[in-house]
Amino acid sequence: MKKKRVAILISGRGSNMMALVEAAVAPDFPAEIALVLSNRPDAAGLDWAASRGIRTASIDHKTYGKDREAFERAMQGVLEDNSIDLVCLAGFMRVLTPWFVAQWQGRMLNIHPALLPSYRGLHTHERALEDGVKIHGCTVHFVVPEMDAGPIILQAAVPVEDSDDADALAARVLTQEHRIYPQALALVAADKLRIEGNRVLMRA
Ligand code: GRF
Repeated sequence: MKKKRVAILISGRGSNMMALVEAAVAPDFPAEIALVLSNRPDAAGLDWAASRGIRTASIDHKTYGKDREAFERAMQGVLEDNSIDLVCLAGFMRVLTPWFVAQWQGRMLNIHPALLPSYRGLHTHERALEDGVKIHGCTVHFVVPEMDAGPIILQAAVPVEDSDDADALAARVLTQEHRIYPQALALVAADKLRIEGNRVLMRA
């Protein structure tokens, strides 16, 4: 099967992007990372991706002021120019409009550092500690217009230890993010999944 062309969208350090790139090096991985795109020209992950021979681009959202759709149309242009099949959000810190999400329905994934539908939004580790939960984790899901919602592809759980602060808990979760995001991308890229309502099921 022809490898799917993937764009990874980042805003910062890009450790999930790196995990996806490393996984996609395997000859039998069903996707290739064709582009790393950032809304911040200074995103640390861009240099790393370029050093691995991956095409990079940045579209500074600040140039577009409040016009979210103009920013997204610029991104869409770059994605189309690069014949992208699938988009992976990896620490991409912009809210997306329903228009952009509709362009990528069933073809855009996100990683969230919590066990959705618990702890949507920011500061998930701090909030989990405050609530005293004993299990925390991460989720890879398809992107829908509502933020941090959308059919769940994979999740991983980690224990919350008595000695944890937010950083320690974040680090434990991040290890799992790096494991399940490539797995989820492989399942989607190999067309192994189908979506039924809110559920993502293996194709028979
Ligand atoms: C990760 O925790 C991810 O789950 C969240 O933002 C963080 C990005 O980290 N969406 P990195 O840029 O992938 O290192």
